[in-house]
Amino acid sequence: MWIHIEKNTNIPLMKQLYSKLREKILKGELLEGERLPSTRLLSNQLHISRNVVLEAYDQLIAEGFLVTKQGAGTFVAEGAYFPVEKKEETENFFTEEKVEKSATIDFRSGIPDLSFFPRNTWSKLLQTICLTSEDYIFNYGNPEGHPVFRQVLSRYLKKTRGVCCHPNQIVVTSGATQALSMLAKLLLTQGDKMLIEDPITKDIQTIFSSTGATLYPIPVDKEGMQTHLLPHNEKPACIFVTPSHQFPLGSTLPIQRRIELLAYAKMKACYIIEDDYDSEFRYEGTPVPSLQGLDPNRVIYVGSFSKILSPGLRLGYLVLPPQFIEQCKTIKWFTDLHTPCLEQLVLAHFIEEGYLERHIYKMKKIYKKRRDCLLDELEKHFSGKVTVSGSLTGLHVIAYFNNVNFSPSFVKAIHSAGVRIYPVETHSINKGQHHQKLIIGFGHLTESKIKEGVSKLHKVLSPEVSDI
Ligand SMILES: Cc1ncc(COP(=O)(O)O)c(C=O)c1O
Repeated sequence: MWIHIEKNTNIPLMKQLYSKLREKILKGELLEGERLPSTRLLSNQLHISRNVVLEAYDQLIAEGFLVTKQGAGTFVAEGAYFPVEKKEETENFFTEEKVEKSATIDFRSGIPDLSFFPRNTWSKLLQTICLTSEDYIFNYGNPEGHPVFRQVLSRYLKKTRGVCCHPNQIVVTSGATQALSMLAKLLLTQGDKMLIEDPITKDIQTIFSSTGATLYPIPVDKEGMQTHLLPHNEKPACIFVTPSHQFPLGSTLPIQRRIELLAYAKMKACYIIEDDYDSEFRYEGTPVPSLQGLDPNRVIYVGSFSKILSPGLRLGYLVLPPQFIEQCKTIKWFTDLHTPCLEQLVLAHFIEEGYLERHIYKMKKIYKKRRDCLLDELEKHFSGKVTVSGSLTGLHVIAYFNNVNFSPSFVKAIHSAGVRIYPVETHSINKGQHHQKLIIGFGHLTESKIKEGVSKLHKVLSPEVSDI
């Protein structure tokens, strides 16, 4: 049997022989039923001790690759042939991805600049809390979250977002996404009707429609949900809105529409879900207070730390009217028991000691510069051919290119030219209204990347936009 054993290496001889035999069996180079050389013969052939061969054979017998037959020797067992995929293919896959990542400018929305994550402060707080907390912190916790974090959060929300709540009304979740999935379970069943902004994130549509409920789209204009289109002959189970910063169109719901929406929900005896995912980054004036603050018994507030701090932390929360708290805790418990306690405590200290507000202040200045750069570049390259909206808040703007249809095949062609873009149409419920609009995310891109990306986009779009 041809086996090469390397003597000048620190991989043990037994391990080498075991691996080589195992591989030959899996690949079918040693066929089932085939007799292996005796331990004495193989040890002579390979110039290794007989004990090494015995040990390798024993391990392969224990794992089912080999069988011994009394007096006849050692044989390859049945059913151990399993060709493994070539290693090179996996390596190529990762290499290509790396190349793609570095060459393409990705205008994906809603990604903060992760290079500014406050690593030092976070790690110091984490270390202190980890070393000084009582042992219970490492045990199973409460489904609603750590009481200290909920205390701090309720104060923070009151101060910065005008949210009125007792800490007991907060349930900590794994990001806003989990909060929305929990609300889908809480409020919707098969056959229900839910009113929702159109367009709205595709993922959010999927979360709610997967309950079997029907989504009734309410079109959005430059001021958000068009409340005069709320249907009078329907009995909705709930209403979903992003009033501070509509996703994707970027509008802010004015007070008149807020009041109209609340009156409608009261008349229909249904609840409103307010998704407040990134309103802290408002570049002109101060953030608009929450809808929840106007009617805390009618509005369920959903918040997240994904945009203001890091999406990878997976920290979000729900603020619920009291009648939903127990049911929501049960849903959370049977989803994943609770959100990790250690991170909740770190974040509680991060907020309490003023680091979060300082971080937001700093990031707002950086994002404002990037937004201004993006607006300047769009103006420079597409002057008179692009209309930008939704740029007052958040980490993306909407660019409307007259006469351009961002069809899936055109989006692919643009990607091949080195720019990833995201049409609003992907998030439409009633299709055909938003083909000419792009969502352009800028939070994670440096000014030079923004310039490079817009210039690349101009190269691909110039034949289209010159027709205007
Ligand atoms: C409108 C909207 N709501 C909620 C979320 C989810 O955020 P999280 O990361 O907290 O799950 C997103 C994510 O981008 C979003 O765009």
